[in-house]
Amino acid sequence: MPESSEFTLANLERTLAGLRFGRPLRFFESIGSTNDEARRMAEGGAPEGALVVADEQVTGRGRAGRSWQTPRGAALAASFILRPDLAPAQLGRITMLGGLAAAEAIDKIIGGRASLKWPNDVLLDHKKVCGVLAESALIGERIAFVVLGIGINVNAGPAGEVQFPATSLAEASGGPVDRVALLASLARRLTLRYEEIGGESLHEAWAARLAYQGKRVTVNTSAGVTEGVAEDVDADGALILRLDSGESRRVLAGDVRLRPSSLSPSPPAPLPGGEGGYRPIRFIGEAIEVEFDRPPLLEKKPGCPNRFTWRGASYQIVEKLSEWHEYGRRGRMAHNMQPEHAAVAEVRGSWGVGRDYFRVRSEGGQIFELYYDRAPKGSDRRKGEWFLVSELAQASH
Ligand code: BTN
Repeated sequence: MPESSEFTLANLERTLAGLRFGRPLRFFESIGSTNDEARRMAEGGAPEGALVVADEQVTGRGRAGRSWQTPRGAALAASFILRPDLAPAQLGRITMLGGLAAAEAIDKIIGGRASLKWPNDVLLDHKKVCGVLAESALIGERIAFVVLGIGINVNAGPAGEVQFPATSLAEASGGPVDRVALLASLARRLTLRYEEIGGESLHEAWAARLAYQGKRVTVNTSAGVTEGVAEDVDADGALILRLDSGESRRVLAGDVRLRPSSLSPSPPAPLPGGEGGYRPIRFIGEAIEVEFDRPPLLEKKPGCPNRFTWRGASYQIVEKLSEWHEYGRRGRMAHNMQPEHAAVAEVRGSWGVGRDYFRVRSEGGQIFELYYDRAPKGSDRRKGEWFLVSELAQASH
């Protein structure tokens, strides 16, 4: 079946009009690699937001020197030029930005629930559907520009042998997908998430989609293979791995593989979407403000709020549908604990650590999942923070 909007320069220009990312736009029916063309443009002074798109790439590149297929008519290959105000050690944030924006755009277009495999893959149904390749140029200790390349398997997956199981949006959603609408959604999500590049919410939203969280993995790095439990990612895009020694290690680059093992701890507490007859319809992953009719007795265990404000709108909570807790220590805090204390904390929670989840119904009939994080990372805030995870729908049987 043909796409509903033709993949042409005119259609792309019209759909991207007014967005921060997507101007100026260069479109190629066929090219070697959009990342190479974007680099040339950036070196020539192209501004932040400039975009190179191609219908076909003949020498598309992936991470670690791998090739990347972009067959004509079947995929999205886009490279955005960014000039972020970040330190070189924070470049991992740009890869996170690309993966998160792609996952959010994919969710929007096919109504799916994309997850993120550290450091740069978007997965649907545990198969790779999108890869991100961020390439940068430095001047001294300053980032001159970053080319953020994003490749999505849209109407066909890669042909031949691949390193990791792959899929396409068409396969996952059961029908053809409009690449113009997909690119517009991607540019919109990038525009929004780029505002958060220096803060914490980008990484919180990324971490909430982390594939294999709490699972035993092997990580192939240039220094060798490391094994441990994938606990988290930090704000600069490093993977936090808990080694068997209890030490928490920051891994900056590598390839992650799931390692089936009886030693794996159970995954974090969120109920699976289907349990209780609910399924996520959109992932949100944003900080919210909450209010209580009566002030909570315990600051670090406030219970379910009575209303919350998200993007300027107020939602009255009329029913708490369920509540659950994740008291495993996360990230860099974990290794400071005595094992016997850690075991207790895992079950009961320890002061100031962990998350309380609530599934609630709002006055307008919408169902949401939210959580209270008692110890938001990377900040010296003593108070915890509230996040809206997703909106759900009652599954029909
Ligand atoms: C990976 O998974 O290893 C990253 C793949 C990145 C592919 C994109 S497609 C657009 C841009 N141009 C390229 O040559 N590569 C990136």
